[in-house]
Amino acid sequence: MAGLTGEYIRRQMVDFKSGARKEPNRMNTIAAALSDEEVRQAGEWFAKLKPYAWTKVVEATMVPKSFVGAGRMRFAQPGGGMESLGNRIITLPQDQSRVTKRDPHSGFIAYVPPGSMKKGEAFVKTGGAGKSVACAICHGDSLQGLGNVPRIAGLHPIYIVRQLHQFKDGTRNGGDAPLMKKPVSQMTDDDMIAVAAYVGSLNPSNGK
Ligand code: HEC
Repeated sequence: MAGLTGEYIRRQMVDFKSGARKEPNRMNTIAAALSDEEVRQAGEWFAKLKPYAWTKVVEATMVPKSFVGAGRMRFAQPGGGMESLGNRIITLPQDQSRVTKRDPHSGFIAYVPPGSMKKGEAFVKTGGAGKSVACAICHGDSLQGLGNVPRIAGLHPIYIVRQLHQFKDGTRNGGDAPLMKKPVSQMTDDDMIAVAAYVGSLNPSNGK
């Protein structure tokens, strides 16, 4: 959330509160409990923070075997071993012990399919041969955000795929969501994985 505008954060909280953006595990309940003033103050604070790289995106054919453990996080299987990544994104901590202790400076590795970053770059820059439009039109030249359209450079790849899906199926349907409807309407799962791999690999502080 670092560096997003206070107004964008406020609008998301309004959407979570009304249920137009559905995230019943956590955010709908949290947003419902906050006053407008609390949301405004939190948004102002996040807007002042500088984003930094949090996820390293790595193309891989084989990945460590893993399981989903505490805190909804995926960890490498204690016994070791590798498995095929296939057409998935698998995220593991860079340092399992620091992440378990919730060290906010210990990030993650997102394994993505080979070739996905290059494919994603082409899609993002040209709109995938007529399927979509260049994302920079709204998200800014370096995908670092434009006005209250949010930064997407350096977001977590799984988060990106989830948002694209949710714009497409209407789970995320707040005030400004219609602007994303058209760009995602013809995207396939493969396109979403490729776009997420590329966009997630960009440095959030300079879009490179
Ligand atoms: C017509 C303008 C427009 C275009 C083109 C566009 N976006 Fe967006 N995008 C938006 C707006 C506005 C939002 C915020 C929507 C909301 O408030 O829910 C958004 C949100 C997002 C989000 C969610 C960000 C977050 O922090 O939750 C992602 C991911 C995203 N866009 C990816 C893309 C990609 C990838 C492309 C190109 C294929 C693209 N967008 C093209 C306007 C656009």
